[in-house]
Amino acid sequence: MIPQETIRQIIDATDIIDVVGEFVNLKKRGVNYIGNCPFHNEKTPSFTVSPSKEIFKCFGCGKSGNAIGFVMEHEKYSYVEALKWLAARYRIPVEEKEVSDEVKQQQHIAESLYVLNNFAQKFFSENLLQTEEGRTVALTYLEHRNFTAAIIQQFQIGYCNSSGNSFAKAALKQQFSKEVLLKSGLVTERNGELFDNYRGRIIFPIHNLSGRIVGFGARVIGKADKAPKYINTPENEIYVKNKTLYGIYFARTAIGKQNECLLVEGYTDVTALQQAGIENVVASGGTSLTEAQLKLIHKFTDNLTILYDGDAAGVKAALRGLDMALEEGLNVKIALIPEGEDPDGWVQKKGSAAFLRFVSETKKDFIFFQLEAMLQDAGNDIAKKNEVVNAIAKSISKINRPEDFVKQQEFSRRSAQLLNIEEGALLQLIAKYKREEVAKITQREEKQQAATGQRVPESEPLSETSELTDFDDLQEKNVLKLLVEHGHKPWDENATVAMYMHEALESFNFNNALYEKVFDEYFILTAAGEEPDEKYFLHHADEAVKQLFTNLLMQPHELSSRWDEKLKNFKEPTPEEKTAYKTDVFKSLCFFRLKKIKTMFDENQKALEQEKDFEEQLKLIAIHNKLKEVEVSLTRELGTVILK
Ligand code: UTP
Ligand code: MN
Repeated sequence: MIPQETIRQIIDATDIIDVVGEFVNLKKRGVNYIGNCPFHNEKTPSFTVSPSKEIFKCFGCGKSGNAIGFVMEHEKYSYVEALKWLAARYRIPVEEKEVSDEVKQQQHIAESLYVLNNFAQKFFSENLLQTEEGRTVALTYLEHRNFTAAIIQQFQIGYCNSSGNSFAKAALKQQFSKEVLLKSGLVTERNGELFDNYRGRIIFPIHNLSGRIVGFGARVIGKADKAPKYINTPENEIYVKNKTLYGIYFARTAIGKQNECLLVEGYTDVTALQQAGIENVVASGGTSLTEAQLKLIHKFTDNLTILYDGDAAGVKAALRGLDMALEEGLNVKIALIPEGEDPDGWVQKKGSAAFLRFVSETKKDFIFFQLEAMLQDAGNDIAKKNEVVNAIAKSISKINRPEDFVKQQEFSRRSAQLLNIEEGALLQLIAKYKREEVAKITQREEKQQAATGQRVPESEPLSETSELTDFDDLQEKNVLKLLVEHGHKPWDENATVAMYMHEALESFNFNNALYEKVFDEYFILTAAGEEPDEKYFLHHADEAVKQLFTNLLMQPHELSSRWDEKLKNFKEPTPEEKTAYKTDVFKSLCFFRLKKIKTMFDENQKALEQEKDFEEQLKLIAIHNKLKEVEVSLTRELGTVILK
């Protein structure tokens, strides 16, 4: 028996495209993937996998199911065997336990809670739509706030009448146990009697990713004077607040399609935006974002846009989740709704087109938003400003995935400008935080290994120039990666990306001789009419080259980088995205050259200080000026594309 918690971990980690792709050659077709059905013979593919729904279906033989079902069917495994197979694939340790009575009891409670919530939802919907009180008090209120019948139906919004115990009575009649009723938060006990907890309130059911109701938010009608505006379900076997996002079930497909998730605070913000046809929206409930919530969003997109009202404490709360979001590899932007409005009011006032335009025009990178807010707060206080510098360096150090390299450089550059400090100093600080993080992880791993009695592998000393912290090295590798990945693609009508790169880097060298060799080899091969690709270098005769590209191109099969890698293929690229490699190449080369020029400056400067001969000095000064010219023009070029 595998613990419930582990099963949940396995399911969360499982990526159906990855799993099915192991056995079936899948091709992307629109939002889905298709291939030849592994369960019956066919020549034209009718086997379809939907990444957003996380299911497969064959339109030829009719077989369908989720990832676990697929593994069971394909490998003829039992449910538990399939789970173990998946656990091994995603490196989730499985400790089998005898199911204790306690666990059995827990599972039983969870199931009962789902059933109860379902019953409650139906009861409350009826209350709203089919009773006198519901219609005159609650429905009128919702209509006054412009809820349509369609949205009320879709979100299964209801009403708990004010009688005091009619729900409790109905539920007891259905044989729900007192224990489960109390756990659900739907009722309270007073003097041994059960009363409706949400009496006189509008009920918003909260659905999980698969559409099951895990809890409720219950809002007072009108202004909340004495009682709290909302009462929410207490944490129980099925409702875990920090793993829940209101609206995710209705938003998941749209988030994938739009490749963006809008995050708002409230229930009514979600429903109002959905009603306006903006479907890629979820709500956090006004608390700070948790890692689990970020991972949930990241299943569908890399892009998170936070929409809060300007004076909201919610912004501060959300800020606390920033580092986690960066680490998770999400691009976080924020747009502040003008003071006094929330997304609900704003979309109703503006209409959906103007609302969306407003968002896309005002949203800015969260990290700069944070920086500006903190700087304003610091004023002229040096100590405070110092704190700001450290906080930003720490945030930027969390951007750690190789593919986010350019983003990290842009953030550093722009932050240094805003802070009015030397970029080099900021980079050093960022490197320091990275080293600290690496040291922490290494320590943790060593501890774990020591605890499990495994041999501790000799770890490399973390020097200043260790791979993770050496920007020059990262930058050089990044250029090689771009060359091999995009070299054959068009740059303009006359040249390939490789040709462009060759020309741009003509007067620059790599510090690392191996990289230089690879770079040259690439062009020798292309000159001979060949098209060296990733495979060529991955199977290179030179072991060092092979090693380099293995590290460069292969992402470890691990959780943190898995989703987005896979999910990249899930999305239909926009026309801009199809040529995004150009921007990437362009910026990377600019940064590369700028960095090299900085070094040249320094060397030139040293030479100048030591030179006694006047003629020679003049030459060095001329070089200095030339370098300055190139730097200025590069910076200018970069400025025109940066931070759209
Ligand atoms: P808001 O006060 O902005 O509520 O709180 P709202 O959702 O916009 O509701 P309306 O428009 O006034 O009807 C934002 C969110 O914070 C949580 C809820 O999740 C709410 O949607 N909240 C707020 C509570 O949990 N309890 C409260 O008492 C208030
Ligand atoms: Mn509101």
